[in-house]
Amino acid sequence: MDAVSIIATAYVHHVPGAPAHGTYTMCQVRRHNHVGSAWVLVGTAIYDVTPFLRSHPGGAQAILKKSGGAADCTEDLLFHSKRAQKEWKKNKVGTLRRCPRVREFGLF
Ligand code: HEM
Repeated sequence: MDAVSIIATAYVHHVPGAPAHGTYTMCQVRRHNHVGSAWVLVGTAIYDVTPFLRSHPGGAQAILKKSGGAADCTEDLLFHSKRAQKEWKKNKVGTLRRCPRVREFGLF
C-alpha cells in the first residue's frame, strides 16, 4: 500500500459494512453516536455496531448510550455469549489514536 492510500484509509469516514481499517481520534469517534452510525470502544479498538442496532436483544438504546466513545465497552463485550462476541468483533473499523492538536496541550 502506498503512502497516499494509507493516509486515505486513516482519514476517510467508515461506511457500515465496508472493510476499511484505520486509526481515528476521539473527536472522530464521537460523531458516531446515532442510529445512522454507532461506534463503540473496547479499550482502543473501535467497532461499528450500526448493523446490530435494529435487532439487538438488549435494545438499541443500550448500545447508543455507550456509543461515540461515551464508555469503554470491554465489560459489555465480555458479558455477551461467545457467538455474540464473535459477531461484534467482525465489525472492527480501526483503533483509537491520539489527536495531534490536543496532545500539544497535554490532553488525550
Ligand atoms: C456497548 C455495546 C452493547 C451493550 C451495552 C449491550 C448490552 C446488551 C444487553 C443489556 C443485553 C440484554 C441481556 C439480557 O438478555 O438481559 C444484550 C444482549 C445481547 N446482545 Fe448486546 N450489547 C452491546 C453490543 C452488542 C453487539 C455489538 C452485538 C452484536 C453482536 C450484541 C449482541 C447481543 C446478543 C446476541 C444478545 C443476546 C444475549 C447473547 O447472546 O449474548 N450486543 N446486550
